[in-house]
Amino acid sequence: MVGSTTAKIFDFPRNAWYVAAWDYEVGRKPLARTIAGQPMALFRTEDGAPIALADACWHRLAPLSMGTLVGRDEIQCPYHGLRYDSAGRCTSMPAQETINPSARVPAFATVDRFRYVWVWPGDAELADPDLIPDMHQMTDAAWTGDGELIHAPCNYQLVLDNLMDLTHEEFVHSSSIGQAELSESDFLTSHTDRTVTVERWMRDIEPPPFWLKNMRDRFPGFSGRVDRWQIIHFEAPSTIRIDVGVAEAGTGAPEVDRSRGVNGYVMNTITPETDRSCLYFWSFQRNYRLESQLITTQLRNGVHNVFGEDERMLAAQQAAIDANPGYEFYSLNIDAGGMWVRRILDGLLAAEGRSAVAPPTSAPSASVA
Ligand code: FES
Repeated sequence: MVGSTTAKIFDFPRNAWYVAAWDYEVGRKPLARTIAGQPMALFRTEDGAPIALADACWHRLAPLSMGTLVGRDEIQCPYHGLRYDSAGRCTSMPAQETINPSARVPAFATVDRFRYVWVWPGDAELADPDLIPDMHQMTDAAWTGDGELIHAPCNYQLVLDNLMDLTHEEFVHSSSIGQAELSESDFLTSHTDRTVTVERWMRDIEPPPFWLKNMRDRFPGFSGRVDRWQIIHFEAPSTIRIDVGVAEAGTGAPEVDRSRGVNGYVMNTITPETDRSCLYFWSFQRNYRLESQLITTQLRNGVHNVFGEDERMLAAQQAAIDANPGYEFYSLNIDAGGMWVRRILDGLLAAEGRSAVAPPTSAPSASVA
């Protein structure tokens, strides 16, 4: 055990980019989403620009997401018809000629990138698009894949914990990607002020069913042992890309040569909604057999089933946390990556003048065997 940290994990940074929706979800019909506690109405202008306004009318707080779009870039409140432009300024009050100059709703910075619509729920002055986490495998021509959105009934930090320590695969996903070597193998943890990396190699092992199928998709008839890798890349506040794969054992994958293997990236970005719910966007990208829609669909459906097992565990964990208020988590060596994530989130909260996560009682190891 390397320390303990509190289970009071209910706040989230607001000066940060979060994914609000897949790009195709935002169109000319307003979409309601809550991002870091802020209800928003999302839509696109006729030019295709994504817009995010507070989902509460200036007049009597009716949800604008229940309204309709008018003209090139205006949204009309469904209750008494006030209209707002894409900057949130009121442009029309049907029952009077004079528009109250204070009539406006907050507008949030948005960016279309990596097949997602990103929003910045905090101070728009600080919304630097260069801070959007790297998810280039979503759109790079060398990669293909597809994913889904899980509306997870738990605090987003529980999902981050889940992804930063993959030894749970042995127990939660025993029929697909789990195997005993996950818990038995060494791993290395490193970090910067916005990133955490956890790297694990399992050499000369039997491939679990998921990876044997993928090897045979690329190398028909493959049998034998493999070298397997999981390299977890966290980037603040809540994006985790996991470089995963297997290669024929002893062909050089741990050094540099992955040509005798199959490589995927599990792309995860988790958006806090409330303190007990989050929007979990994932996709499985691969860099082989790019032409095969069959493999894309099979991988998406396979990962859907795997992540369904995680969702059930996370919902049960959140229920147990609620039933045990004030309980302090204990941390093991396997939690080193997750503890660095919490430290980074703590720093982001402190920079906003808030603190919701008590610091660990002792530092996790930078390198753990
Ligand atoms: Fe929106 Fe009255 S509540 S116009």
